[in-house]
Amino acid sequence: MEKRLKNGQHWTDTQGNPIHAHGGCILKIEDRFYWYGEDRRKNYYVSCYSSRDLMNWKFENHILTTESKILKYYDSAQLKNEDGKKINIERPKIIYNEITKKYVMWAHYENGYDYKQAAVAIASCDSPTGDFCYHGCFNPLQNMSRDCTLFIDKNNTPFFVSTAQNNANLNVYSISDDYMSVNKLEKVLFKGEYREAPAFFETRDKLFLLTSKCTGWSPNQGGYAHADNMISRWSEIYDFGDETTYHTQPAFVLTLNTNQGKQYVYIGDRWGGNEWNGVDRNDFVYDNSSYYFSLINIDESNVINLEKCNEFTFDINTSSFRVWNSEK
Ligand code: DGJ
Repeated sequence: MEKRLKNGQHWTDTQGNPIHAHGGCILKIEDRFYWYGEDRRKNYYVSCYSSRDLMNWKFENHILTTESKILKYYDSAQLKNEDGKKINIERPKIIYNEITKKYVMWAHYENGYDYKQAAVAIASCDSPTGDFCYHGCFNPLQNMSRDCTLFIDKNNTPFFVSTAQNNANLNVYSISDDYMSVNKLEKVLFKGEYREAPAFFETRDKLFLLTSKCTGWSPNQGGYAHADNMISRWSEIYDFGDETTYHTQPAFVLTLNTNQGKQYVYIGDRWGGNEWNGVDRNDFVYDNSSYYFSLINIDESNVINLEKCNEFTFDINTSSFRVWNSEK
């Protein structure tokens, strides 16, 4: 029987261990997908898995841990507190730098005690699955920076986008050629609208942003907006998915080049997994968090729709993703 992966269930890697890649991102390198995300177990921060079909994931490495090598670029560069307590690394995003030939990770940094530092952490590595080297954390142009993402647009311009002013705004920064620092604040999106979980993707004629509202770990109505490019005028925010985005929050959008054109795959987190009933948003088991992959459909008027998706399959031959809501 054809294998399907069921959304919201606890997925395991090819050795039968739970997959911990929360708030993450997926890179395609040659014929393989590399999935990176938060792993809060033991001394881990970020883990990496690889797959050819988005369903069978091989564990690759705990790429950032409390013991990772530190090569200071910023003054503040500790991977644990004086008392040994872990720091917090959230929503890691990785892009490849053609000039330095390094995979560079940007993530949300907090000190492990509270969410007041609101900074960005940077790490890098020569290989996609190697031990990343930690370079420290900073506040971009002295701004607060929490939920964040990296995006390289079709002109090859990289941007860092993160929530600022206590999550009220989404700041768009251009970044340096080596991807180690921010250059300039290019744009402030949705001022005062308290949006989180930004995830970008680009079609032939529009740049889209998916974003959640700001309700801690509780899922809420997903929103999207579009623009001609990052620094042009953006549309207002429209709803997508249902009032809880099918109990998920966006992490990333994976663009697939199928033999019938592009597909856009929503990579979302179901914080607390299916066990969490959403009654008390602070009372859930983080490690039970699961995932939700589905297709984003876009019509001619640039209206998007996230397909409700019970299970999915992926065809390696055509590189295409398929949603299943029927019984086998
Ligand atoms: C929502 C964010 O999107 C998550 O990454 C996490 O920071 C929680 N807020 C913390 O409340």
